[in-house]
Amino acid sequence: MNTLLKTITVLSICATASAFSTPVTIRTTSILSVAVEVPEASKINTLIDLDAEKVVNMEKLDAGKKAVYCRCWKSGTFPLCDGNHVAHNKATGDNVGPLIVTAAKAE
Ligand code: FES
Repeated sequence: MNTLLKTITVLSICATASAFSTPVTIRTTSILSVAVEVPEASKINTLIDLDAEKVVNMEKLDAGKKAVYCRCWKSGTFPLCDGNHVAHNKATGDNVGPLIVTAAKAE
């Protein structure tokens, strides 16, 4: 997983009892900057119509026909699945697969 190094600011407040004969509470505040690794937001679609504002496909399915649509965005025949999800799953540990649609036969 790609990560980004981000700096966050933390306000720390401490209360401490002193060693004086009368208990004294000392309050200190400090602001700390801490570097943390956070997951990098990444694009799902790295291949298909990258110049388009939104990728939308409309398909007409004839009665009695079946189509297998890609849901991993790795298909070379998008919007149809070409099996590239298998390599993607193997490389990433993901579990994505296609959407299989069957149109009912006309009666
Ligand atoms: S290639 Fe994308 S789901 Fe099969």
